[in-house]
Amino acid sequence: MKKSVLKCEHLCKTYYSDEVEFNALKNVSLEINEGEFVAIMGQSGSGKSTLLYTLSGMDSITSGEVFVNGRQINEAKPKEMTKIRRENIGFVFQGINLVSNLSLFENIVVPGYLTKVSRKEIDSRAKKLFTKMDLDQQVNKLPSQVSGGQKQRAAIARSLINQPNILFADEPTGALNSSSGKAVLELMSEFNKEGQTIVMVTHDIKSASYANRVIFLHDGRIDGELNLEKSKMTNKTKEEKKIFKYHSMKGR
Ligand SMILES: Nc1ncnc2c1ncn2[C@@H]1O[C@H](COP(=O)(O)OP(=O)(O)OP(=O)(O)O)[C@@H](O)[C@H]1O
Ligand SMILES: [Mg+2]
Repeated sequence: MKKSVLKCEHLCKTYYSDEVEFNALKNVSLEINEGEFVAIMGQSGSGKSTLLYTLSGMDSITSGEVFVNGRQINEAKPKEMTKIRRENIGFVFQGINLVSNLSLFENIVVPGYLTKVSRKEIDSRAKKLFTKMDLDQQVNKLPSQVSGGQKQRAAIARSLINQPNILFADEPTGALNSSSGKAVLELMSEFNKEGQTIVMVTHDIKSASYANRVIFLHDGRIDGELNLEKSKMTNKTKEEKKIFKYHSMKGR
């Protein structure tokens, strides 16, 4: 049986600003199993980033429950939460946020040095990730001295340094041109084939087609779901048919 690594039930998130309430997530329930590559799609403002932030414990929820590896994280104390996040969760942010005065190497190893794992082990993991990401020539450069695609790949390497159970990525190709975007998606797909569970937000059909399952968000609610491995082409919307087409072009 597949192991459930991420689950939320009746998740609601309300933002309060200047006494105005805004319900960004309305009763969202979903479950993701180990090894899945899930894309979350929806228009700008539909709640995609909010969903990723609340599922990864980076932001609080208003009501409902969130479980990571069977553990209810929305009740965890801040210190415990930091530990759960560090050990279980990797996060690639919307817009790359590497530390500008650290080299790519330093950016990648820092989250690793904050754990109990030895520096030797972290350095060796970083080296392997660099080679895989084709960044060997870039390790000693600052983020401002490398390309957008290289920065994004470094951000992914950083999110993987602690070998997280779940990799969350918020529009990982949003800031890239199509060829560097494709390279990043292919890399993520490769990590997924090696067993990495991935939850990726995107508004782009081609990017979503790299996933095995697509969840559609509309106005803070789940509006549909597409299983690219199991379901058939029949009774699909235009958008879903396109995702299927691109998915099948990848020769799976
Ligand atoms: N801190 C906040 N305070 C008030 N409203 C917020 C806050 N953050 C987000 N929102 C609102 O919640 C809704 C969902 O925002 P979210 O960032 O999750 O959207 P998104 O689907 O990721 O959009 P995009 O594709 O543009 O990144 C939006 O309408 C946004 O204006
Ligand atoms: Mg967003």
